[in-house]
Amino acid sequence: MYQTIRTESSGNIFIITINRPDKLNALNKTVIEELSQAVDEVYSSAEIRSAIITGAGSKAFVAGADISEFSGLTKEQAAQTSRKGQDVFFKIENAPKPILAAVNGFALGGGCELALSCHFRLCSANAKFGQPEVNLGLIPGYGGTQRLPQLIGKGKAMELMMTGNMISAEEALQLGLVNYVTTQEELLQKSKEILQLIETKAPIAISKLIGCVNTAVYGKVNASGKNIGFEEEISAFAYCFDTEDMKEGSAAFLEKRKPVFKGR
Ligand code: COA
Repeated sequence: MYQTIRTESSGNIFIITINRPDKLNALNKTVIEELSQAVDEVYSSAEIRSAIITGAGSKAFVAGADISEFSGLTKEQAAQTSRKGQDVFFKIENAPKPILAAVNGFALGGGCELALSCHFRLCSANAKFGQPEVNLGLIPGYGGTQRLPQLIGKGKAMELMMTGNMISAEEALQLGLVNYVTTQEELLQKSKEILQLIETKAPIAISKLIGCVNTAVYGKVNASGKNIGFEEEISAFAYCFDTEDMKEGSAAFLEKRKPVFKGR
C-alpha cells in the first residue's frame, strides 16, 4: 500500500495520483520512491497498457520538490536527491507503454519536470506551469534544463527558468508544452480517450516508437542511456546547495517572505 500516491485501474489504464493535496502534492522522498514503484508496475504488469499521472485535489498537479526537505542538505546529498529524481523521471520517459500527464493545476519546479518526463501532456484550464527554482537560489534538478528547451525551444525555456514566471494553460498550449486544454472535469476522460485509441494500436510498435523518438530527441547518450547534459544538471544543482543564496531562498519560502540574494 502506498502512503503518498494512489493508484487505480480504469480498464487497462493505470492512474497514478500524487496524493498530498495539503502540500500541493509536493514531491518528498516518499513520493519519489512510491512513484518509482508505481512506474515499475507499469513496466511489469501485463494488464497495464498505459498510464496517467495526475495530482489529487483541484489546485495542484505537483507544486515542486518538497522545499522543507532541502534545508540542511549537503552538496553530496543534493546531488543524490537530483540523481534519484532524474532516475525516476528517466524511467517514465523510457517506459515501453504510453504515460500521459494530466495536469490539473500548478505544475511547478519538479512538478513541471514530472510532466515533461511523460510522453505528452494534457491540462485543465486552471493549470499553471513554471520553473521557479531561481526564486530559491537554485536550478531545476529533475531534468528540466534538458527537457524544457527541447519541448518549447531554447529562448522561451531560458526566459521561464531565469524569471521563474508561471505561464497559463493557454500559453502552455501555444508553446506545445501541452497538447490539449480541457475543463477540470473533462481532463481524465480526455486523457483516457486518447489512451484508449492508442490501445487499439500494436503495443510493440508503440514501445519501439517511444524508443526511437527519445533517440531522435537526445541523440548521443552515455553508458547509462542518459544525455550528458543530465549529469551537468546534477552537478550544477548540487553546486547551488553550497551557496548562501540557496539557504536564503529556501528559508524565505518557508518563512513566507521575499528572499534577498547576494550572489554568493
Ligand atoms: N514544497 C513544500 N511545501 C509546499 C510546496 C513545495 N514545493 N509548495 C507548496 N507547499 C505547501 C506550502 O508551504 C503550504 O503549506 P502550509 O499550509 O503548511 O503552510 C501549502 O503547500 C499550500 O501552499 P501555499 O503556498 O499556502 O498556497 P498558495 O496558493 O498561497 O501558493 C504556490 C501556491 C504554488 C504559488 C506556492 O505554494 C509556491 O510558490 N510553491 C512553491 C513552488 C516552488 O518553488 N516549487 C519549486 C520547488 S524546487
